Formats: sequence, structure tokens, C-alpha cells
Amino acid sequence: MNKDKLADRMGRLAPSGIRKINERALELERQGKKVFHFEIGRPDFDTPGYIKKAAVESIQHGDVFYTSNFGDLELRRAIAEKLNRDNGCHYSFQNILVSVGLSEGVFDVLCAVLNESDEILISDPVWINYLNIPKFLGAVPVSYQLKEENGYQPDLNEIRAKITDKTKAIIITTPHNPTGSVLSEEVLRGLAEIAIQHDLLVISDEIYERLVYGEKKHVSIASLPGMQERTFTLNGFSKAYSMTGWRVGYIAAPEEWITAINKLHQQNTTCAASFVQKAALAALRQESGEVDRMVAEYRRRRDYAVKAINEIEGVSCACPEGAFYIFLNVRELGKSSEFVCEYLLEKYQIAMVPGSVFGASGEGYLRMSYASSFESIVEGCTRLKAAVQELRDER
Ligand SMILES: Cc1ncc(COP(=O)(O)O)c(C=O)c1O
Repeated sequence: MNKDKLADRMGRLAPSGIRKINERALELERQGKKVFHFEIGRPDFDTPGYIKKAAVESIQHGDVFYTSNFGDLELRRAIAEKLNRDNGCHYSFQNILVSVGLSEGVFDVLCAVLNESDEILISDPVWINYLNIPKFLGAVPVSYQLKEENGYQPDLNEIRAKITDKTKAIIITTPHNPTGSVLSEEVLRGLAEIAIQHDLLVISDEIYERLVYGEKKHVSIASLPGMQERTFTLNGFSKAYSMTGWRVGYIAAPEEWITAINKLHQQNTTCAASFVQKAALAALRQESGEVDRMVAEYRRRRDYAVKAINEIEGVSCACPEGAFYIFLNVRELGKSSEFVCEYLLEKYQIAMVPGSVFGASGEGYLRMSYASSFESIVEGCTRLKAAVQELRDER
């Protein structure tokens, strides 16, 4: 097809650097090699049985039609209850829109708030949709850095210095992909003060909120004084309940914004699948320890991997407080993160993602997902040790 026939904005969307690694890993598997997959941000657990059962029963009961565009009323109520009970917010069902995965929610919110040439503050490194979608919309992403030496907490002075009269919003992600950091309450209070002072919208991605390991408590910025009226709280079911393939997430925001976003959501997807919404309702209402058990296993893997990595001479990592990613510092090896990733994959069949995929500040790091079996993490760390030794010897 003639490329010129496509809209100019398509050129502003970069292909996924994560998929590139994943595709090469799958190619190696087709050649008969055993690959250790640490590249994908996808829980390796099956979806808990009570959730699957709810979906099957829902289909059998005839939940096979469109739902309200905003989402199933009972689910919206359950989401509002969850946000009020667990997160200290004050939402009602009118504040909730159910999206097709949080990815759709992110796209809808950014489309709804960004005019061309508006500036939006995003972290660097960042989950790449937050860089790509503003660019796609002709807006200007402005990065604030998350540095290892600051525990990947933003520097509030840097943020203040980057605010101009064009700054419309700030995006925060806590727990964070790819660094695994959890924003401290102190930093969140500082961010809230900045947002109020400069009249900024806050887009708070909390999709990893359940995956925290005890070092820091998850705090929703919308629960802080004066914040709910300027915040989009984004969350979903993919990570906590291991439901990445079900495609269901949600946006919580002031009712007039939800009404506006719904106009876009109607054009885009109409609604999330009816029986998937019933399954999401069950996920919230019938949970009895399933998520906690997965979190305990992530924690066991994290503790093992962090210790093993820090015992390898030449690489190191901070202990992530949330999500299921380790951000591995490979600077001492003196090679680009892309080079190290290719080396690990081709010679040792370890698949990780170059930190540079997540922005310039990610250079010198690799993202390792520990949403992979304990045994594969043990073997992966052994191979990593051998690979790092070899890279050091080659210097
Ligand atoms: C920070 C962050 N937000 C949102 C999403 C999207 O999740 P989903 O569309 O599966 O609900 C992801 C997925 O990796 C993520 O890492």
C-alpha cells in the first residue's frame, strides 16, 4: 500500500519495542530453543476460577447483548464502592465508565483532554502509551525524570520548573511501569499542591495498585483534599486479577467528564463485553484471598531475583515496591541497553526489554518482568550471571 495514503498522524506512532523483543523470542522458540520470558507485562497465573465461573454463568443466563455504554450499572456501583472503601475516594456510579481494558480508557481520556500543542507532563521512563498517544494527538509530552538514586520518585522542583502556560495535565503511574516504584504519600501531597496551584488535571494510572509488597502503601491522589475534582483515576482488572485477555478497565472522574468521554467511547467500542463485565463484578464482589495469594508469590519471586541480581558483579537493581518489574542497572557493562538485551536473548535466551524503549532515562537499564514462574526466574538469574561475566570478560 502507498504509505502516503495514510494520515500524517500515523507517522507519530512508534511500533512497540516490547513486541519486537517478544517476536524475536518467539522466533527462537520456533527454532527449538528454550527462551526465558521476562519481557511481557502479563501475569502468568490463570484467571481465578470464581471469575471464570461468573463469566460462563453470565453467558448461560443470556448476558449476550450490549450493556449501557457507560458500563453495567451493578459493576459501576461495585467499582465506586471499591474506590471509596479501599482508596478513600467519594465516587458514585455516575463517576465511573467501564472501558475495554485500561488501554482504551487511557486513549479516551487523553483524546478528551488534550488539544493540539497542549503540554502534558509524563514520567521518563514511562509506559510508552503515555508518550505515543499525546504525540498522536498533536500534543506535546514533556518528561520529568525518575532516577534510581531518588528511589524513582519525581523531583517536585523539576516538575515545577517544567510547567508553562500550556501545561494541561500531569500523568502519574503508581505503582510504576517500568521501575516498580510506588509514589510516597509525601510526593503525592506535593504533586497535589502543584496541580491545585497551577490548575492542572491529574491522570493517575493505578492499574498495579494491588501489587504492592509492604514497603509502601498505595495512595490514590484523588483521595487527597481538593483532588477528586481534577483527577482521572484509571484502573482495571488485567494485572490484579490476571485478566489481561478479558479487556476490562475503568475511568473514575467528575460526572461531566465521564459524560463527555462516553461520547468518544460510544464511537470507539460501544461497551465492554457484557459477560466480561459480569466477571469483573464477581472479581470485585466475590474475592476471597485469590489476589493476595498471587501477590505473595510475586513477592517471593521479587525477593529471590533482587538478591540474585545484586550478587552479580557488574549489574544491580533497586528493590521494586510494586508492580512486577525489576529495573536492572547495566550501566557498568558500558554497552547500550539494546545491545545487552540482544546479547542476552541471542546467546542466553533471556528475554528482557531495553530500558531505552521507555524513554531516554531508561538507557542503561533493562526491564525484567517477574510475572514468570519461580523456576524460570532461578534459571534466568543463573544465565544472567554467566552472560554478565562473559560481557565483562569481553571488555
Ligand atoms: C501502566 C499501565 N497502564 C495501563 C496498562 C493497560 O492495561 P490493560 O489495557 O490491559 O487494562 C498497562 C499494561 O501493561 C500498564 O502497564
